[in-house]
Amino acid sequence: MKTVLSGIRPTGNLHLGNYYGALLNFVRMQQENKCYFFIADWHSLTTHPDPTMINVNVKNVIAEYLAAGINPEVSTIYRQSDVPEVAELYLYLNMHARMGELAKTASFKDKARKNPDNVNAGLLTYPTLMAADILIHNADMVPVGEDQEQHLEMTRVFARRFNHFYNVDYFKEPVPFNFGHKLIRIPGLDGSGKMGKSEGNCIYLGDEPKAIEKKVKRAVTDSGPTEPNSEKPEIIENLFTFLRLVSDEEVNKHFEEAWNDCSIRYGDLKKQIAEDIIKVTTPLRERILDLRGDDAYLNKVLEEGAEKARENAAKTLKEVREIMGFKKL
Ligand code: TRP
Repeated sequence: MKTVLSGIRPTGNLHLGNYYGALLNFVRMQQENKCYFFIADWHSLTTHPDPTMINVNVKNVIAEYLAAGINPEVSTIYRQSDVPEVAELYLYLNMHARMGELAKTASFKDKARKNPDNVNAGLLTYPTLMAADILIHNADMVPVGEDQEQHLEMTRVFARRFNHFYNVDYFKEPVPFNFGHKLIRIPGLDGSGKMGKSEGNCIYLGDEPKAIEKKVKRAVTDSGPTEPNSEKPEIIENLFTFLRLVSDEEVNKHFEEAWNDCSIRYGDLKKQIAEDIIKVTTPLRERILDLRGDDAYLNKVLEEGAEKARENAAKTLKEVREIMGFKKL
């Protein structure tokens, strides 16, 4: 059985893009692998969040993960800051991380350019902390989006360098988790290609039905097909992508035919999409709300997760210390 580690920064709520693009796949991934899901609250410190927001965000993420079907009986769910072993490994890895390679990481350059007043050392060493997260469990695979691929590549470099420097074959070189299919990219309803937080075009799992109706109603369309069987422009194809995701086959067939014979009415299409999104999100929203109101249960999940994660982390750290020469006289 392979070890898979997945990390998420606790910033804001999850949207349909996260749900279809990642979460649903994670639920399947946990059946066939030994999975660790952790909340990277230390990573969120690079932007100096308000201390009162940390727990709000942690709670949102964990409630949403559990609501979507990540199962604490099957997987280990924990919070990074509950596993101090990660910080120690981060220290060791930093001794071998080179200033130059950290400074030329795409995410670092990007953030340094956008926030020139807050270029802190934590931001520079973000990839080392991420490598510590992964290597502390000696994970085989990590599900990563495009924006995190370079960090995973650096983790492999750090692992290889450590092995080479200490002349051991200790750390594995983690590879991207392969879902066996291309991940679905959920489009934005504002005509942009992607649903994303920074795009400001999200339908959140916790959105009320009224809010969903409003968002879908505002989706951009054109003046409609003028010739039978014509190709769909991207903004219309985007709407059909939603239809394929949330609506059943009959409904899909109906609207495809309506498109092809030019009888389609976008108002009806949107109404249908909104209705079927609401069907998907309502049970999720209800579970999220229940979980958010149950601190005792969430704390229990986090405590048990931390205990399991620490057991494995402590074992790694003990071995790493020995390799590096920290041992009994
Ligand atoms: N950097 C990741 C992100 O921004 C979160 C993360 C932190 C992570 N540590 C990780 C992801 C380790 C995978 C493995 O989304």
